[in-house]
Amino acid sequence: MSRPTLYKAGDHCSKLSIIPYPVGLSLSVSYVTKPILMEGGQYIVEGQDIAKSTTLIFSMQEEIGSLAKALKVFQSHNVNLLHIESRPSHREANYEFIVECDSATGDLGVAMEEVRGMTSYFQVISRNHKDNKDTVPWFPRKINDLDRFANQILSYGSELDSDHPGFTDPVYRARRKYFADIAYNYKHGESIPRIDYTEEEKKTWGEVFRNLTHLYRSHACKEHNQMFPLLIENCGYREDNIPQLQDVSDFLKDCTGFTLRPVAGLLSSRDFLAGLAFRVFHSTQYIRHSSKPLYTPEPDICHELLGHAPLFADPAFAQFSQEIGLASLGAPDDFIEKLATCYWFTVEFGICRQNGELKAYGAGLLSSYGELEYCLSGKPELRAFEPVKTGLQKYPITEYQPVYYVTESFDEAKQKMIHFASQIPRPFSVRYNPYTQSVEILDSKPQIQNLVQNINCEMQVLLDALVKLG
Ligand SMILES: [Fe+2]
Repeated sequence: MSRPTLYKAGDHCSKLSIIPYPVGLSLSVSYVTKPILMEGGQYIVEGQDIAKSTTLIFSMQEEIGSLAKALKVFQSHNVNLLHIESRPSHREANYEFIVECDSATGDLGVAMEEVRGMTSYFQVISRNHKDNKDTVPWFPRKINDLDRFANQILSYGSELDSDHPGFTDPVYRARRKYFADIAYNYKHGESIPRIDYTEEEKKTWGEVFRNLTHLYRSHACKEHNQMFPLLIENCGYREDNIPQLQDVSDFLKDCTGFTLRPVAGLLSSRDFLAGLAFRVFHSTQYIRHSSKPLYTPEPDICHELLGHAPLFADPAFAQFSQEIGLASLGAPDDFIEKLATCYWFTVEFGICRQNGELKAYGAGLLSSYGELEYCLSGKPELRAFEPVKTGLQKYPITEYQPVYYVTESFDEAKQKMIHFASQIPRPFSVRYNPYTQSVEILDSKPQIQNLVQNINCEMQVLLDALVKLG
């Protein structure tokens, strides 16, 4: 796939920057992302390319006309603005502004320094964080920011390697493109399109389903075994039926607030983990090639729905997964790698101890007939899950793991992840606000005092409930 090209939106933005802007009202200007299909199935993306944008969050001491003054600075240095937003500040008794600038235009560095001098709070968030040690790597703040990942995919889902079982099958390749297009055009809040799976696809699913389900009782963790019957009952999990992503997503939302969203191709570790912070799991919708039903070189719907989905319905596991996601927001690159490795050895290939027995909970194990038996066979090496050490472990992608990490419980794994996250060098903490489905950056005392008051109110409710129970 060609790299996304930047939509030249400068004319609109320079006009916008001189509009008198009433503080306290929210103005948001975004450009619609519109993929254009080129000959040969290549996509060129029109719209924001967040790899080339820098986001500034700032508050100003004076309120009246203050944003207009700041915006004039960008105009005078020929910096194009892609998005402008204001909202009440949680830090100070005024407003904060979020301005997304096109990094490739004008003299952004000089404009930033000038604006910094006018502000009482100033934070820079950018995909180009490597250029400046004071810049925090970009991360989504609102759940619909995840829509921006669609044009940041590392490879399009219909591009197959020459050793892929479906490489020489034009029908399969066309089908893969169909699924990739659905995901590419998906937007947060929409229903995931329902798929009319072919008889051949259902047969492949059936073979995987039949082989795996008879191993689950003896090899899968109790949470997986508890949830599986509910998925059969509520989401159409059957040997002759491939469940629809939307039905599974609705079920997960009722259980833990997790939702699924289709993904068109490979995401970077940073983007993939960021989705988990919002309890959003990026899921494939296509199925492996029918010639090798028990093998797939990449995640497919069998892996997502049989391996991942049952566990995301478990509250403790959902919280553990979200902790990995929250830890990743704004983390430096080396920590992203460690977190992705922890994700690999837990959510994908984790083993836990339950009633003195080892059981699999990782989706890579629960969706692989061979490895599910192998991991509990006593042959591979087992170690205790410790994020500091586990995060450094090298691993193969295309063969069975030589080492697996064992946790005593999901709550224990979660506490270890929270402790590990506290060691990540970033100038703030983050908290997910489920009411607004947004991530709050915690970097001031008033915010924390506010949260403590909220916790006090909740404690009062719990104490009252305890008193009523006698
Ligand atoms: Fe997976």
